[in-house]
Amino acid sequence: MDIIEAIRSRKSIRGYKPDPVPKEMLKKILDIATQSPSGMNTQPWEFTVITGEVLDNIKRGNVEMLASGATPNPDLPLKPYEGVYRNRQVEVAVQIFGLMGIAREDKEKRAEWMQRGFRFFDAPAAIILSVDKSLGELRPQFDIGAITQTICLAALNYGLGTCIEDQGVMFPEVVRRFTGIPESKRTIIAITIGYPDWDFPANKLETKREPVENITAWQGFD
Ligand SMILES: Cc1cc2nc3c(=O)[nH]c(=O)nc-3n(C[C@H](O)[C@H](O)[C@H](O)COP(=O)(O)O)c2cc1C
Repeated sequence: MDIIEAIRSRKSIRGYKPDPVPKEMLKKILDIATQSPSGMNTQPWEFTVITGEVLDNIKRGNVEMLASGATPNPDLPLKPYEGVYRNRQVEVAVQIFGLMGIAREDKEKRAEWMQRGFRFFDAPAAIILSVDKSLGELRPQFDIGAITQTICLAALNYGLGTCIEDQGVMFPEVVRRFTGIPESKRTIIAITIGYPDWDFPANKLETKREPVENITAWQGFD
């Protein structure tokens, strides 16, 4: 697949076929993704690839935490969005709820949708990215971002879809309980991965982008 076509066709997949993803395929994706750049080639990323019973246990554990009313406590604290960023967040939620036929006032269905995220969108596999806490909170984020996108692009080569998601690691104690990721590592993000179910309504989502002209300063050109 041409690189521009890959970048253009990647989108978040929130509905998957149940078919398992072969371990060998996941390994190839991670092998190639480790070509990503990192500050001073520090390669701070560590992968925990989960499927089967381990993934099922984490899905169940996350949903139980949500149902208990526990406050999410991610290793990388999230700040609520404001202003234009909040507007964009709301816009994407409105688009998803529209596609899924979830009415604004339908609290039950909205809660169900939220649960779906905490269930890794029922994907057959997921990759948890973590980094050693000795690297600090901020610096490795750049490197993790680079490899995350690279994983998502490489997955396309194998007909796989992905969704980068905070929700999977919002209850790190659950992830730790079933994977053994130690306290010395910070869980950063989850990537759900599997064969897309193209009949799933939310997979039809086309997110918008701000035109480059609105976010770019061109200087020194004629
Ligand atoms: C750091 C990060 C965290 C995200 N977390 C979630 C999440 O928890 N739940 C979710 O449904 N989507 C999540 N997304 C997916 C974004 O909503 C999505 O990338 C964005 O709306 C653009 O859509 P696209 O990926 O289809 O181009 C996340 C994406 C990123 C980069």
